[in-house]
Amino acid sequence: MTKNNERADWWKQAVVYQVYPRSFYDASGDGLGDIRGVTARMDYLRALGIDAIWLSPFYPSPLVDGGYDVADYRDVDPRLGTLADFDEMVAAAHDAGIKVVVDIVPNHTSTEHEWFRAALAAGPGSPERDRYVFRPGRGEHGELPPNGWRSTFGGPAWEPVGDGEWYLHLFAVEQADLNWKNPEVREDFKRTLRFWSDRGADGFRIDVAHALAKDLDSRPLDEWPDDPDQASLSQEGEGGDNPLWDRPEVHEIYREWRKVFNEYEPPRFAVAEAWVCPEHQWMYASTDELGQVFNFEFAKTDWFADDFRRAIEEGLDAAERSRSTTTWVLSNHDMARHATRFGLPQVRSREHHQLVNDWLLRDGRTYVEDRALGTRRARAALLMELGLPGSVYLYQGEELGLFEVADIPWEALEDPEARMTEHGDAIKGRDGCRVPLPWVADDPTDAFGFSAPAEHAAPHLPQPAWFGSHAVDAEEADKGSMLWFYRHALALRAELVVPTGDTSLAWAAENGGEVIAYERPTADGRTLEVVTNFGAEPARLPEGEVLLASAELNADGSLPADATVWVVR
Ligand code: NOJ
Repeated sequence: MTKNNERADWWKQAVVYQVYPRSFYDASGDGLGDIRGVTARMDYLRALGIDAIWLSPFYPSPLVDGGYDVADYRDVDPRLGTLADFDEMVAAAHDAGIKVVVDIVPNHTSTEHEWFRAALAAGPGSPERDRYVFRPGRGEHGELPPNGWRSTFGGPAWEPVGDGEWYLHLFAVEQADLNWKNPEVREDFKRTLRFWSDRGADGFRIDVAHALAKDLDSRPLDEWPDDPDQASLSQEGEGGDNPLWDRPEVHEIYREWRKVFNEYEPPRFAVAEAWVCPEHQWMYASTDELGQVFNFEFAKTDWFADDFRRAIEEGLDAAERSRSTTTWVLSNHDMARHATRFGLPQVRSREHHQLVNDWLLRDGRTYVEDRALGTRRARAALLMELGLPGSVYLYQGEELGLFEVADIPWEALEDPEARMTEHGDAIKGRDGCRVPLPWVADDPTDAFGFSAPAEHAAPHLPQPAWFGSHAVDAEEADKGSMLWFYRHALALRAELVVPTGDTSLAWAAENGGEVIAYERPTADGRTLEVVTNFGAEPARLPEGEVLLASAELNADGSLPADATVWVVR
């Protein structure tokens, strides 16, 4: 067990590794990763040196949105295993000293959920419909949607059910939004939190945490603007005046959840996925609410020193306001992998991140990524990130240096975001970072060791030929690989930086311009200085012993471009 995990507030400075279960490891041979696959790879996770795993949804689901369309919150999808498999996986993780975080999806259920079926059967005005957001349509026979809101995945956010009523879905048609004003909905989610806590879950990741509270009644629905890109409806707006996102009442829900978390010893924690403006992030993380909120600013930032510096400052500032710690994220299952992003022409403004992502994921747009440059910057970014106070969330496969898989054939795509836009563009969606992991370079069965049995179905998404050189066994055999670099850096962080419990950071003398440099106290009473050089000119190293560098130093001892060094003194 890491020293960090001996603390009751272990999650404040944890390294959490995101497992996307369907693409991690397939123990059953059906081409889909599963829970027993996670258990089978616990030694790999322990050797990596992480504190916790976070599992994206593994609940019964029609898998319209990769499991974020949940049909039963308190069970395991039979294709991914059983509750007994889950218990075994938690026991194996805990034996390995690894904590377990599970995903809660409270904004919407699958339309296959028993509540939604009951709502359809019961008809307008029923208590069953009140658990969701049903409204009468406009027009003589309700043939028009209640208003013109658009879903996040494209198309109208309302779907008719044939009796004059329509239900709201901010995401796919098969993901019906719940009504959080309904007391039964509130009680049921507390039951779910206790269910997984009782089974050993140490924490929760809360999906679309900023959307639960909605205001659909303070003005006629058709008076709201249609276009979600308008400031008044944008996900990252100021809150309060927005009927859908980041409303102040959402915090009442999390204050109730905090009481549930505190029933346990140590208290459970949660991390909110809330794409809100930086000034609002801290509320979700405060000690009487969830504990932590994702800070996605790193993921939105291209390779520019001033943008990263600002992201660090904002993250630390939010942490101070919440009296908690912040999080650092470079990649997850919703965005193009950062080894690819950093190897593309860089875009100045963080506001353009969505555009960049969309651009990347578009069909027929060929992009030429400089893979060597992307890899070099990914290594530098990791060392910069790991020294910072707070938690680091890693996404499976980044430790292998995987790139985005750009050429998945259209007919193989699974993501509901893959679609034709109204402008005639084809967006290929998020599957390029969700391709099953390569474990064995030379696998005669052509799945790079993703499936355990010799006879198995093809992986659920096709793997490209270049995955072989990133396979776990190939990287294990090469001490210069990304995998060894991650292991080395994580071990140093766990020994040297985190055990102090200190979450302070001081900017170092070298900080400024193209160089980011900060200092932290170490567990053995020294000072760690982390220096990243974003510029083309070599940067001078501070005094001290070089512990680890993301790239070879120059012959004169200076730090080359796109590199980070850890120095202690
Ligand atoms: C955020 C999740 O990370 C994403 O994968 C999902 O599509 C949406 N929420 C809807 O649940």
